[in-house]
Amino acid sequence: MCGIVGYIGQNDTKEILLNGLEKLEYRGYDSAGIATLNAEGLHLFKVKGRIAALRDKVDQSVHANMGIGHTRWATHGEPSEDNAHPHQSASGRFTLVHNGVIENYYELRDAYLADVKLTSETDTEIVVQLIEVLYQDTDDVLAAFSKAISLLKGSYAIALIDAQDTDVIYVAKNKSPLLVGLGDGFNLVASDAMATLKETDTYLEIEDKEIVVVKRDHVHIQKLDGTVVTRQPYVAEIDAADTEKGTYDYFMLKEIDEQPFVMRKIIQEYQDEHGQIKVDADIRHAMLAADRIYIIAAGTSYNAGLVGKQIIEELVQTPVEVHIASEFSYNMPLLSEKPLFIFISQSGETADSRAVLVQTKLKDYPSITITNVPGSTLSREADYTLHLHAGPEIAVASTKAYTAQIAVLTILAVDTARAKGLELDFDPLQELAIVASVMESLTDQKEYYAQLAKEYFTDTRNAFFIGRSVDYYVVQEASLKLKEISYIQAEGFAGGELKHGTIALIEEGTPVIAISTQENVNYSIRGNVQEVAARGAKTCIVSLQGLEQDSDTVVLPHVHPLLTPLVSVVPMQLLAYYAALHRGCDVDKPRNLAKSVTVE
Ligand code: M6R
Repeated sequence: MCGIVGYIGQNDTKEILLNGLEKLEYRGYDSAGIATLNAEGLHLFKVKGRIAALRDKVDQSVHANMGIGHTRWATHGEPSEDNAHPHQSASGRFTLVHNGVIENYYELRDAYLADVKLTSETDTEIVVQLIEVLYQDTDDVLAAFSKAISLLKGSYAIALIDAQDTDVIYVAKNKSPLLVGLGDGFNLVASDAMATLKETDTYLEIEDKEIVVVKRDHVHIQKLDGTVVTRQPYVAEIDAADTEKGTYDYFMLKEIDEQPFVMRKIIQEYQDEHGQIKVDADIRHAMLAADRIYIIAAGTSYNAGLVGKQIIEELVQTPVEVHIASEFSYNMPLLSEKPLFIFISQSGETADSRAVLVQTKLKDYPSITITNVPGSTLSREADYTLHLHAGPEIAVASTKAYTAQIAVLTILAVDTARAKGLELDFDPLQELAIVASVMESLTDQKEYYAQLAKEYFTDTRNAFFIGRSVDYYVVQEASLKLKEISYIQAEGFAGGELKHGTIALIEEGTPVIAISTQENVNYSIRGNVQEVAARGAKTCIVSLQGLEQDSDTVVLPHVHPLLTPLVSVVPMQLLAYYAALHRGCDVDKPRNLAKSVTVE
């Protein structure tokens, strides 16, 4: 979704802002802009479309050493140059970028801006106009900024510059992520550390409703009531090199290929010096104390949660419910007496999941976040965090985070089961090492999957994935992967459920991909494949060594039955990738989608 970058220092700012915005492209956007400020005044450049177009538009002869930039993912108003950020106040004195949604913008407009002519359809413009109106009362920019922030309802990350002051960027946030990056003689503002890793690896967290004054050599944080806040910086664990594509055409393929390394990294990170699983004792106690576990997540993380439920219930014998975050927050089910909430989120910033965390915290329910970004909002606000160690995931389509989430959930389940004294005939570290090797053998067969994708998905308008038991959970992820990047209408179904309605959609040549990795449903899913084949479907079976039949299209090397999702998903990811490629889609940045969904 929207991205913010700001810089104040000694160097020319346009390249820093443009580079930063390019690093945020992966989040999804439809317009972009930068504003730079020097002694001659403010220089504003905005475009509808890509950063490349913005780069062409920026006047290279303008030099300034402070400025703010933005990528916008349209919420209020269509993608257009007028609606692109930065937005300016009526006099042009104040310029502002904003991520999030201002919920009370009509009320603010009616109460404060009756005499102001608005030039965009955005909620953001209300904020910058409001600051100017409030400034007229106080003659004090900090006071006007603080007052405006105190009036806002909703989610926001905001950076403001004043055309009459080249020494300061004003910053505040609520619910939306925003960091201050620290440098020697310069400081930065970013909605995502990824935007500024080239300049610094040291960051200051900002908490909701704090007012932050960012200067070249100083950062001042205060609360809305003026109380000064001191906070220690932290060093981000991301390596700038991990955010580059290297020799790959797309991040998605790079990230699919990284999965074996991620498995090995997880084995290393969750292992003690005796080769035993290492999980924080507080997390273990929280797991043991729970009479029911509620997994909350969205999209691919939700799909990983479904697999996690299967693994936890089988190993730990504690009931688990998996909920779509955006539903749970408005339709909370009856909870058990001692619930434990596990939030799964690659980004750690998903607004829907955070809305649930806010509610559960009010009730003092314990919470664990499983995330790829330890300093993220969900990580900071939950009681405990389990880190995925997957490295930055840039492609919008999540791949390595999904398998990392399942691997970490498995380790958590085994640790809890052992602490409960349950007998397990399962060494997760050893089994994950086998998974890593199998993943490697699958990613080595790219040409085969490219060919299969051509055969099955080049012309089709729809596709179905079927599975039973845990394979049903994997086909849901398979269909999400295919539809989000290739725009083929794809659905994942429980094999037995097809004939209760969906089979009506099967026509001559409709692709139906089945996964069969579980012995107890091997025959029944094959029966379901026969049913659709008899109605003209073009079928493909992905099975597991030991359960295969001669006609199977893919036979996965054997892994532990509990861990088959970690390997059966890899061909699905590759099929989706090549389908999108063959159909000429922008694999890493599918239309309408954002990597980090920070609005509800
Ligand atoms: O960052 P999160 O894991 O919380 O994100 C949740 C979903 O938005 C995300 O998984 C989305 O479904 C991906 N685009 C799927 O590939």
